[in-house]
Amino acid sequence: MQSDNLFTPLRVGKLKLNHRIVLAPLTRIRAHQETLAPTKLNVEYYAQRATAGGLLISEAVYISPEGMPIWSIYKNIKENGGHSPGIWTSDQVKGWQMVTRAVHSNGGLISCQLLHAGRVAQPEIAEHPLVKGTDLPIPSVSSSATRISSLDEKGNDYNWDQKSVTPRALKTEEIARICRDYKQAAINALEAGFDLVEIHSAHGYLIEQFFCDGVNTRNDKYGGSIKNRARILFEVIETLIDVVGEERLGVRLSPVSIDPLTKNPNQIYFGVVHSNPEPLYEYAIRKLNDYNLAYLLLTEPRVGVLSNIPAKNNTFEVPETNYKYREIYQGTLLGAGGFTPITARKSLSKGNYDLIAFGRWFLSNPDLPERIKKGYELNVYDRDTFYGGNELGYTDYPDYESAINRGKKKYKLISQSSIGRSLS
Ligand SMILES: Cc1cc2nc3c(=O)[nH]c(=O)nc-3n(C[C@H](O)[C@H](O)[C@H](O)COP(=O)(O)O)c2cc1C
Repeated sequence: MQSDNLFTPLRVGKLKLNHRIVLAPLTRIRAHQETLAPTKLNVEYYAQRATAGGLLISEAVYISPEGMPIWSIYKNIKENGGHSPGIWTSDQVKGWQMVTRAVHSNGGLISCQLLHAGRVAQPEIAEHPLVKGTDLPIPSVSSSATRISSLDEKGNDYNWDQKSVTPRALKTEEIARICRDYKQAAINALEAGFDLVEIHSAHGYLIEQFFCDGVNTRNDKYGGSIKNRARILFEVIETLIDVVGEERLGVRLSPVSIDPLTKNPNQIYFGVVHSNPEPLYEYAIRKLNDYNLAYLLLTEPRVGVLSNIPAKNNTFEVPETNYKYREIYQGTLLGAGGFTPITARKSLSKGNYDLIAFGRWFLSNPDLPERIKKGYELNVYDRDTFYGGNELGYTDYPDYESAINRGKKKYKLISQSSIGRSLS
């Protein structure tokens, strides 16, 4: 019998993985409201998803209040509260220590996704008790004073009910301070027991706000040419290599391209637009070969969960495109976005990616690797509880055994082969 390619081992840096199914980074907005630290509920969530030799990537973890948005749009957050976690205080480090210990005791491994959201973070965080009265830098900063353009007819931004402010352009000499903030966050991540650290350079946040000429209008060494616009990423990488080492560092990018027929980009994240994106991503990905990184995580543009292209189209049926960077990148390539167990296996067998990160399916199936291995049905996710609130839609998704034994089913089940035909 042919072996299942999702269950073959792989070395990632110094880590030994037993299978190729990775938990994609998923913001769930359930950290402690006051300390912005992980809680016991968060520990339970990550522990549920940890398997022997399986890699989890944390939700986006904020390196400083300056890069931290307050997500308020979703009804569930409004009604039940919720905040994302940071990693700049000792309480936050302690909270993450509880998470990593629980993951490790189940044999799992975990990468810490570090994020500065740039202009997506809005000044309201200054009123948070952890920030008010301190001299911590506050939002909103970006590559240039370019506001997120309105994305709906009411002038709202981000698909939500807030209007953006015009960010302050970071001064040339401030980039070194941003690198120091990343460095401190990485030191804290190691102290918290993470196995790897990931630089979130995707999805329209700060680093992409430098990449894109629709946002970045600078004329210093961080603006203009492709090399200049990509410079901040490599400065952050060099800074973090000093702290964590190449083999413990991952990078996430979300390359987009312009459709030759429509002339429209195939994805727009938080209003970030480029005139000619592909050469920049080609340059950046080629240059990543200079480092022996743990992994490069690429987002398939077919999904843009928080972007202005509604996710109501059936993203599970759209073909992959970003594996084309496989020809350029020589290290371990991790793909995310719209994979089903069936398409993940196909992708691995074509050699498109080495590992597949699952977001929505791992969110609703704590025992996803086992269900995939055995071909069991999957719990269908509930979009309303993606962000914020409590254990509902977070730690209450049952494992397969409990799902089928329950008289009254809380979550619907779907067979792995039906995904893409009946669900988006
Ligand atoms: C609820 C939710 C939260 C997300 N949060 C993050 C995040 O914090 N960082 C990140 O890089 N991507 C984030 N993403 C994108 C996922 O990592 C992944 O790329 C996306 O879910 C597509 O994969 P899927 O089709 O397997 O769900 C999020 C996606 C969802 C659904």
